[in-house]
Amino acid sequence: MSPTDATPHDSSHAASQDSSHAASQGDVALLTVRGLRKSFGTNEVLKSIDVTVGRGQVVALIGPSGSGKTTVLRSLNGLEVPDSGTVHFDGYAPVDFATKPGRRELVALRDRSAMVFQQFNLFPHRTVLENVIEGPVQVQKVPVAEATAAALKLLDRVGLADKRDAYPFELSGGQQQRVGIVRALAQGPDLLLFDEPTSSLDPELVGDVLEVIRELAAEGWTMVLVTHELQFAKHVADQVVFMDGGVVVEAGPPSEVLVNPQHERTRQFLHRLLDR
Ligand SMILES: Nc1ncnc2c1ncn2[C@@H]1O[C@H](COP(=O)(O)OP(=O)(O)OP(=O)(O)O)[C@@H](O)[C@H]1O
Ligand SMILES: [Mg+2]
Repeated sequence: MSPTDATPHDSSHAASQDSSHAASQGDVALLTVRGLRKSFGTNEVLKSIDVTVGRGQVVALIGPSGSGKTTVLRSLNGLEVPDSGTVHFDGYAPVDFATKPGRRELVALRDRSAMVFQQFNLFPHRTVLENVIEGPVQVQKVPVAEATAAALKLLDRVGLADKRDAYPFELSGGQQQRVGIVRALAQGPDLLLFDEPTSSLDPELVGDVLEVIRELAAEGWTMVLVTHELQFAKHVADQVVFMDGGVVVEAGPPSEVLVNPQHERTRQFLHRLLDR
């Protein structure tokens, strides 16, 4: 997909406004992760993770602090190199980490997804527009004029066209995060990865960011979202994956995992979150 056309890769699902269609969308796996393992020294933080993400699906990844959620996202985005396991994007060769993939394979994997970070991670000395076009221009070698036109369209969508020349410090957290989302979209990924996108925001700013994510989901973007916003997950996610201690404890539709969990660990986690 070109960054000038920042709609999901497979536009055949873009008309879907209702996540209940996702069961059929999900029949085609965009991403299949099998047996993902990662240790930091002697600390094994991912112990054979399996996740399947259907095209057009929203997957909410939940679990206690330290369970490995961020490490999963970083592994999918090539920011972390797992020790073993395979990551397979539909239409591309599977990447098998047991055989130490080369740089080219990792760069190709990185291109498939784009990440939205908890702390926004915008470049502080660059304007909003410069932040958004950085990836398309530097990495994908899109001409500046073309990348700028695409970026302005996306900024307009999230109500920030007038902030194009502002620096991150001049924006609220909610505005910075909307720029973070636009920056991810501008890369033209197949998959959007969100790591607790609203947990550094003041409560009154959370809603606007969740609304943008909800709209992207309705447009048919495929996304994996680490979140503690259970109500949001319940309404927007097609699949909830509960991780604890580096394993997937259970996965399924929100109506099962969030409403009627099968495992004691899931029940305890949900109770703790609801009691906060
Ligand atoms: N670069 C690193 N070096 C060493 N240990 C790390 C590194 N990154 C993560 N870890 C460890 O891996 C484990 C899982 O961390 P991870 O950040 O994936 O958890 P998480 O589920 O995202 O937690 P949180 O909800 O607090 O964000 C933790 O024990 C963490 O200390
Ligand atoms: Mg994390």
